[in-house]
Amino acid sequence: MAILLMTAPIPAQPLADALRAAAPDVPVWDSSEPHDPQAVEAILAWRLKPGVLGAYQNLRVLCSTGAGVDKLLAVPDLPPGLPVTRTVDATQHLQIAQYVVACALSHLRELPRYRAQQMASHWARHRARPLAQCRIGVLGLGAVGLAIARAFVPLGFPVAGWTRSPRDAQDLPAGVTAYAGDAGLPALLAQTDVLVCALPLTPATQGLLNRDTLAQLPVGACVINIGRGEQLVEADLRAMLDSGHLAGAALDVFEREPPPPDNWVWQHPRVLATPHIAGEASADAVAQQVLDALRRARAGLPQPLAVDRSAGY
Ligand code: GLV
Repeated sequence: MAILLMTAPIPAQPLADALRAAAPDVPVWDSSEPHDPQAVEAILAWRLKPGVLGAYQNLRVLCSTGAGVDKLLAVPDLPPGLPVTRTVDATQHLQIAQYVVACALSHLRELPRYRAQQMASHWARHRARPLAQCRIGVLGLGAVGLAIARAFVPLGFPVAGWTRSPRDAQDLPAGVTAYAGDAGLPALLAQTDVLVCALPLTPATQGLLNRDTLAQLPVGACVINIGRGEQLVEADLRAMLDSGHLAGAALDVFEREPPPPDNWVWQHPRVLATPHIAGEASADAVAQQVLDALRRARAGLPQPLAVDRSAGY
């Protein structure tokens, strides 16, 4: 029984240390080290190259280092019945919510404008936006989206959330207005000043934020993407920023990571671009969940953190 780490570009060492500390008797190998493929029963990975899994005939479970599993589900030779688990770390969800709140407040309270004024030794006050023009719309109300929506409610902002299928009201935090399905999306967009994408990447969400959908946001809206880069058509975002329809964007995820050196996002004055740092699952949480997934796989028990492979999350 061994665990193999294929976590690049996420550093493997902290995860290996956490696994070894939690289960000293379980061999933990990094894929760059010599190892016995027949002994590997769990792989912890962020993404995998096609053709790699074939060597691991005794693999029982594939675990994602992150909350999203899109890169693992995209592997063409993923064995049909293999459970794929995601990481669920409430601290990571809170970190992401903090990042989103920071970006939204910077935009809504015009901090970049005041910073520019300061650099010019210029003292000028601008009226703060009324709350009615600070409407937050969160796409996706999984654990991350819910943490984000919850964080905004006590700040007094109107908060709405959108899910593909309708949610029971009792599953939503108080103060969050629910929209759902294809019909609900335009309704949410039309009344959103800060759009937050917290969706999983699936065929249905790929390219969801494009010229058509972004145009449904009110003039002056901003977009925050902490989902996946492939959900936002970057060229369409640029066109909407340059036309003045959108006032700003904060992007933590990109179509290509890192974006190529000549990509416009690096230099755009109204884009905050960060290197996929909004939230990171703790090594201890990941380790505990991999060990539990391996234990369950060996005992033939259900995997509570397994994703629905056909849904993509
Ligand atoms: C980060 O993007 C994650 O999926 O955890």
